Amino acid sequence: MSLKLGVIGYPIGQSKSPIIHTYWMKKYGLDGTYETIAIKPDELTQGVQKLIDGGYQGFNVTIPHKEAMLDICDEVDDVATAIGAVNTVSIRDGKLFGTNTDSFGFIENLKQHADYDLKGTALVLGAGGAARAIIYGLLENGISQILLTNRTRSRAEKLKPMAPDKISVEEWDKRKELLKDIDLLVNTTSLGMDGQPKLGIDLSNLLPSATVCDIVYKPLMTDLLGQAKNKENQIVTGIGMLLHQARPAFEQWTGILPDVDQNLEDMVLA
Ligand code: ATR
Repeated sequence: MSLKLGVIGYPIGQSKSPIIHTYWMKKYGLDGTYETIAIKPDELTQGVQKLIDGGYQGFNVTIPHKEAMLDICDEVDDVATAIGAVNTVSIRDGKLFGTNTDSFGFIENLKQHADYDLKGTALVLGAGGAARAIIYGLLENGISQILLTNRTRSRAEKLKPMAPDKISVEEWDKRKELLKDIDLLVNTTSLGMDGQPKLGIDLSNLLPSATVCDIVYKPLMTDLLGQAKNKENQIVTGIGMLLHQARPAFEQWTGILPDVDQNLEDMVLA
């Protein structure tokens, strides 16, 4: 059987998913295609129906459809429900099954690159969709406490109900002081990305044992990670989250849980 897969979004040109899934199809000897499929926001239902009619086995979902897909799917699992967004859909017998693999991607990347037991206190910067997936992953993996701070405080308050006894919302302007007692620092904002302002955080208060993660991967070595590296803290770059989140999607469609190898990382960063 030839695979018919893709990623839906609008605009969709920038997606790295075709590189990743096409690489794995070749690596595991599977025949098929993985396309970028532009679907305008007001044409989502019809666009998805075309994929069902066209015999697709599944697709990834990116901006701006991740939240809207929750309502379009016939079934959505607990992870996607908790994160409030679908990034992966499988089509079986004409029905749509939605999940979200972003928290898996974040945690697997952390496990691959850091010697850290996911205990203690995490400081999460940012409160958008990525933060929600990351917080979900941290909570599922037993983190004790999450300090959450965001420029727009009200967005952070919206995430607190995920675990009211473990999440405390802190002032954005206090982020440097919050570094004193933490085991993990995660930047989930777009700050530090090419073309965006720098995160502008001074790490002098950070404990030497703390692990620092950035979800920004353009550039791979962000200012935040560069500073942490200079202090000899353990760092985790952002590209791995993108690569690892694709693994369970590929597994759902093909039955094969693929590896992340250096060749793939180089291709996606090229
Ligand atoms: P995603 O789904 O990728 O997380 P998002 O929902 O647009 O994207 O969230 C972007 C995050 O980066 C938010 O936490 C945003 O803060 P606000 O909620 O205050 O907008 C943060 N962010 C973006 N630009 C920022 C800036 N210049 N200063 C501080 N935070 C910024």
